[in-house]
Amino acid sequence: MKILGIETSCDECAASVVEDGRIILSNKVATQIELHKIYNGVVPEIASRLHVEWIKSVVKEATVDSGIDLESIDGIAVTNRPGLVGSLLVGLSFAKGLALSLNKPYVGVDHIMAHLYAPYLEHTIEYPYLGVLVSGGHTIISRVAEFNKMDVLGTTIDDACGEAFDKVAKFYDLGYPGGIAIDRLSLEGDPKAFNFPNPSLHKGDHKYDVSYSGLKTAVINQLDQFRNGDAEKSKANIAASFQRAAVDVLMRRVKRALKDTGLTRIVAGGGVVANSLLRKELLGLDNIHTVIPSMSLCTDNAAMIAGIGYHYLEKGIRSDYTLNASSRVPAFRKKYP
Ligand code: KG4
Ligand code: ZN
Repeated sequence: MKILGIETSCDECAASVVEDGRIILSNKVATQIELHKIYNGVVPEIASRLHVEWIKSVVKEATVDSGIDLESIDGIAVTNRPGLVGSLLVGLSFAKGLALSLNKPYVGVDHIMAHLYAPYLEHTIEYPYLGVLVSGGHTIISRVAEFNKMDVLGTTIDDACGEAFDKVAKFYDLGYPGGIAIDRLSLEGDPKAFNFPNPSLHKGDHKYDVSYSGLKTAVINQLDQFRNGDAEKSKANIAASFQRAAVDVLMRRVKRALKDTGLTRIVAGGGVVANSLLRKELLGLDNIHTVIPSMSLCTDNAAMIAGIGYHYLEKGIRSDYTLNASSRVPAFRKKYP
């Protein structure tokens, strides 16, 4: 089965054709990064307008690259949750229109589950595994039993990990997008230069939860360092010390979850998994088989959407035309009691 995937949940306008949930025939990602750069962050209104302008040609390029014509696809998968609702609606409406005009089935899929599916496009992995999803909007440690069955063990109680990277970078003017800028700058800095906090959430339901808001504030409060001395050196040290702390926060919970669940496999996904230190730590765990997608499949793409969508469509599971977009999936967020 050849499935067309469509992804517009944030600032990447993406389309891809994937065969049988595994073989990528095309993978087109049109990034809006340059157009949001001057604002130092994604502007939702601009993002959705650009998706409207771009979606048709992105889908066309993906089908041309795949070597098949639109009439030959067997179904359409589209992200309908979670994300920026205006952006999601563009992809969802486009997918509905295309499905209707081609008389093909379509299914709305979860962006988070799709990130955790991404490694299946390159590797053979057995369930269950510990799912570690670290992106700009989510930080989730989970037990994944099937492509669509995930038990959330821990999540962030405030900011997402990627969000903290982006905000620290914005505050210190380190570059945009923030995560990759901090990753690069860290190579020149000393991770021990600043001693940032690693909050202990160890009670009951919060055993595997993470918090990034305190760390972010602590990093931002170091601004005084810039008033005396070598600002450029301080920037690299701030970046390296923050990155070290941000990765430690996550790795402590990952190790705890592995120990308690007895799971021996990790599948990691989401944009922050492109981080060099996090990749090194996840891949260096003793007696654990860690699978991480290649860089282009870590960040937002539509191949992961077509890939996971195949598993629904081949079972006859499809969405109807009343399906809406949702900015949040309540199960992925925890509230502090
Ligand atoms: O998965 P993704 O592309 O979009 C969401 O679903 O959110 O993740 C984007 C996030 C951003 O916060 C970005 O700064 C972060 O991933 N990111 C990184 C790196 N590359 C992207 N964070 C740390 N280090 C990186 N190398
Ligand atoms: Zn994402």
